[in-house]
Amino acid sequence: MAPMGRNYAIDLSRSSTVSAMRHIPGAWHRAATGAGLVSADGSIHPTIFAEMSALAARTGAINLGQGFPDEDGPVEVLEAARDAISDGLNQYPPGRGIPDLLSAVSEHQQRFYGLGLDPATEVLITAGATEALAAALLALVDGPDDEVVVFEPYYDSYAAVVALSGARLVTVPLRWPDFQPDLDDLRRAVGDRTRVILVNDPHNPTGAVFTADVRAEVVRLAERHDAVIVTDEVYEHLVFDEPHVPIATLPGAFERTLSISSGGKTFSTTGWKIGWITGPADLISAVLAVKQFLTYVNGSAFQPAIATGLRLDDGFFRGIADSLRAKRDLLGAGLRAAGFAVSTPAGSYFTVADARDLGASDAATFCRELPERAGVVAISLTAFATPEHRAEYATLVRFAACKRVEVLEEAASRLASLR
Ligand SMILES: Cc1ncc(COP(=O)(O)O)c(C=O)c1O
Repeated sequence: MAPMGRNYAIDLSRSSTVSAMRHIPGAWHRAATGAGLVSADGSIHPTIFAEMSALAARTGAINLGQGFPDEDGPVEVLEAARDAISDGLNQYPPGRGIPDLLSAVSEHQQRFYGLGLDPATEVLITAGATEALAAALLALVDGPDDEVVVFEPYYDSYAAVVALSGARLVTVPLRWPDFQPDLDDLRRAVGDRTRVILVNDPHNPTGAVFTADVRAEVVRLAERHDAVIVTDEVYEHLVFDEPHVPIATLPGAFERTLSISSGGKTFSTTGWKIGWITGPADLISAVLAVKQFLTYVNGSAFQPAIATGLRLDDGFFRGIADSLRAKRDLLGAGLRAAGFAVSTPAGSYFTVADARDLGASDAATFCRELPERAGVVAISLTAFATPEHRAEYATLVRFAACKRVEVLEEAASRLASLR
């Protein structure tokens, strides 16, 4: 294959199926560069999550790196998927999603947030939040004159998809220890080229829940610059202090907001990849125009199961937040006892800790050594930042609390050896 433009080499030796190095032209290198996966020599390295999970498997360390639960979710939800397979729901579902799940998402938005949505036109089922994000960004931005504003550090798919779209990523820093954006920074970041303000709240990797002032300023700026707000609310039910407030519920926000969530975190079914995006019908149609050519549809048997989950009683939703709050506290206490400074998260699976007092000057190196030193895997916050801003996060480490209590206790006792 003839190389075109700037060439990147894929290190195919990491793949199980191919063992040579080749030059491959195409848009993929924008995605890889956007996600920070291109090494100085042009080769592509795996994501930090793949690297650290492999390290955990190799060393037997406890994996507090990747954010997935190690316990099954509610039995009703699991049973509903088994029943759906037995009942023959194994072919393509309708393009927007099965009607029962569209209704269940609409009922959920009404029940928790007072948002009245037309299930036929204002809800779209996607292959996880990840596809919803990709389809929304690819639908709404178009080339180098467009800008997407994100809060940094950020979930890694954002930068990859923005790079694929060809738009410019503009970041607003979230700083230790509370990780709330400075409103002046936010105002400077948003301008007439801003097509999308992408807000992840509750926030991965920091665990921050944005204040009412931040949410209001996002809406004000989007109105002033005629931008669309895209929210990533996959941790909406994993908040520890106040109930979650979707930006779409703010005055004037709904008409310019696409809200994204998924069943993965709420029902501990991250492998099922059932997500949804809600908003005004014209924006949803624009997203559908792209989404139908990404996956078309997915998860026919999992869709009714997630509908069952969304209709579980309030006790279930309170229970998952209570359980994760207790785990957050357990993890936080263990990290403090080990000598970390800890930023107490208000939501999400994650806790960020500062390893400076433990001698760290580069969290990536610290994390690579942590399995040997303490038998635990975690992820450096620099993995969620653009190369220019990594220095700000140089000693910060993200730990996942979404593990069984005994696993967290064992991790805490291992980390105590760092002292
Ligand atoms: C902030 C955020 N958005 C989206 C996702 C992915 O969601 P899904 O598995 O539904 O695609 C994750 C998963 O870790 C996440 O942390």
